[in-house]
Amino acid sequence: MTIKPKKNPAKMWGGRFTEKTAASVEAFTESISFDARLYKQDIAGSCVHARMLARQGLISEAERDLIIKGLGEIEQEIEQGKFEFKTELEDVHMNIEKALAERIGAAGEKLHTARSRNDQVNLDTRLYLRAEIVNIIDLLTDLRKGFVGLARKYLGDIMPGYTHLQRAQPVLISHHMLAYYEMFGRDQGRLRDCLQRVNIMPLGAAALAGTGLPIDREFVAAELGFAGVTANSMDSVGDRDFLVEFAAAAALIQVHLSRLSEELVLWSSEEFSFIDIGDSFCTGSSIMPQKKNPDIPELIRGKSGRVIGNLMSLLILLKGLPMTYNRDLQEDKEPLFDTVDTVSQSVAISSDLLANLQFKPANTRAATAAGFMTATDLADYLVIKNIPFRQAHAIVGQAVAYGLDKSKDLSELSIAELRQFSELIDEDVFAVLSVEGSVNSRKSTGGTAIIRVKEALALAEKDLGM
Ligand code: ARG
Repeated sequence: MTIKPKKNPAKMWGGRFTEKTAASVEAFTESISFDARLYKQDIAGSCVHARMLARQGLISEAERDLIIKGLGEIEQEIEQGKFEFKTELEDVHMNIEKALAERIGAAGEKLHTARSRNDQVNLDTRLYLRAEIVNIIDLLTDLRKGFVGLARKYLGDIMPGYTHLQRAQPVLISHHMLAYYEMFGRDQGRLRDCLQRVNIMPLGAAALAGTGLPIDREFVAAELGFAGVTANSMDSVGDRDFLVEFAAAAALIQVHLSRLSEELVLWSSEEFSFIDIGDSFCTGSSIMPQKKNPDIPELIRGKSGRVIGNLMSLLILLKGLPMTYNRDLQEDKEPLFDTVDTVSQSVAISSDLLANLQFKPANTRAATAAGFMTATDLADYLVIKNIPFRQAHAIVGQAVAYGLDKSKDLSELSIAELRQFSELIDEDVFAVLSVEGSVNSRKSTGGTAIIRVKEALALAEKDLGM
């Protein structure tokens, strides 16, 4: 029997096709324009796959060596910008495989033994994301060091703490900085958690049902540094949960950066004037010569939209998919890459931003003098004198109304004026009404008193090896 020549010889899957693929279809279905960036992972996976095939007697050792050498050369060419990626070869997997076959002949055509692009792309994505997650965790460590550094630098300086963006109670600047240290620490925890599910090896699921060939999945997993192999071949090729988990953790990181950015924008305004961002980290206006704008935090805040959007894209991508692999899944890559790029860049530049800003402690301290920020302290003072808290709250409310009327803060009222509201108030009240007294009275675990903040700071420095 003679085999009829292929009618679509340009395609690696062209055997059963009698017509050439339409140009519009090639342009619509290709992913090489964005998945080329997986070339390193694709080659690393293929090298180990080839070694496994040789160990299992599915290819010879000579073929294995040819494959590994050829892939190494292709990798170099890609790195040197000499490799030509072709749209008609669709994706990174087929571009590399085809180039290998052209280079080494029949041995190259054996590489895809016991493998499908369905498990291959899943493997490549996991290898890629694994490294990126580790990188983002490291970037977050740098960012947290930035907050700890500021906490150390401004230890003892006071600023208003806000609720509803209204001055609420005085706090230490360091306490505020360490709040972010905690927040981004949780983000690192979420990434570490996600990493456990990324770090499982899917190759061997083949198209969807596994393979009849005698492969060794555990060998591939161990060689590529995975913690184990996926349990179900169908789930393996259809699973993108690990991308959703990552995208969710990343969205929350970007939201946290956005909250920080919002504060930096406010604080650098003339109205607050709590910080100064260095000139090299601001930009000017093309029309208003006096302007120095906080564009970096504004852009970080703005970029949260796309990172949240990417999470939505991935969820919606999966929502209607039957088992197992569907081509829709190719749409996972652009949101993934954009999320990795945006979040890595935003975390890194936020660290730089922290290194380029200075607090204005005289201004932050002055801002605590007004706004009756020690009103709760006065109420607590009365509570110690056995007045029920609700009554104390009402008494202090009257004192605040009086102060507002006289344009005086609580600490500026005389003892006689204060005693109008309760005769239990004595001279010792002034220690309570001072901003420093207020801050340092908050000794509860996690509170802003300097002794608590010093402990928290020492712990943070120890944790980060500073
Ligand atoms: N480029 C494809 C993707 O990213 C690779 C897998 C293609 N598999 C297939 N059966 N067409 O999803």
